[in-house]
Amino acid sequence: KNIVILISGSGSNMAAIVRTAQQERWQETLGARVAAVVSNKAQAGGLQFAQEQGIATAVVDHKAYDSRESFDAALMQCIDAHAPSLVVLAGFMRILTPGFVAHYSGRLINIHPSLLPAFAGLHTHQRAIDAGCKFAGCSVHQVTADLDAGPILEQGLVPILPGDTAELLAARVLVQEHQIYPKAVRSLLQAC
Ligand code: GRF
Repeated sequence: KNIVILISGSGSNMAAIVRTAQQERWQETLGARVAAVVSNKAQAGGLQFAQEQGIATAVVDHKAYDSRESFDAALMQCIDAHAPSLVVLAGFMRILTPGFVAHYSGRLINIHPSLLPAFAGLHTHQRAIDAGCKFAGCSVHQVTADLDAGPILEQGLVPILPGDTAELLAARVLVQEHQIYPKAVRSLLQAC
C-alpha cells in the first residue's frame, strides 16, 4: 500500500507520518510505506527531510502551468506513477480541481487547523481567538469537492489561553496535528 504525501512548506505533518511509519514498522505490520513526497514548491523544507529518509521526492511547480486543470493533470500523473492507496495533503496550499478530487475519491485526505465545521478556510487561529472560543484544534477529513467540508476522520482539541496570539495557538495546535494525522492514516491503511 503506497502513500503519497503532498506538501508546500515545512512538512512537519509529513515528517510526523514518516516517523510514525518507521517507529510502528508499517511496512511489516500494514504492508504500507510512504512511497513519495510531492511539493508544488522546490523550496519546501520538507523535501530535504524526505530525501534523507530515502523517500522519492518530486516537484510539480504550479507556476509552470497556465491553468488549474493543466497543473492538476501533471500532478496526477506524478502521483499515479506511485500507484497510491492513499494521497495525503499535508500543508499543501493549492486548491484542487473537482476532477482531481474525483480521481482520488475515497483515498484523499487533508488536515485542517480548526475544529471543523468551524473555521474552514484561512486564518483559522486568529478567527477562533477573535470569536472568543475557549477551545481550538485540528481535523483530519476526507477531501470532497467542497473546501474543508468532507467527512471528519479524527480531531484534536487544545485550549485557547488568555493572551494567546495566532502564533502561540498555531504552535499548540500543530502538536496535536502531529498526533492525529499519523493515527488517521494508520486507521485508513488498516481498512484498505
Ligand atoms: C498545518 O497547520 C496544516 O494544518 C496547515 O498547514 C500547516 C502545515 O504545516 N494546513 P506543515 O507543513 O505540516 O509543517
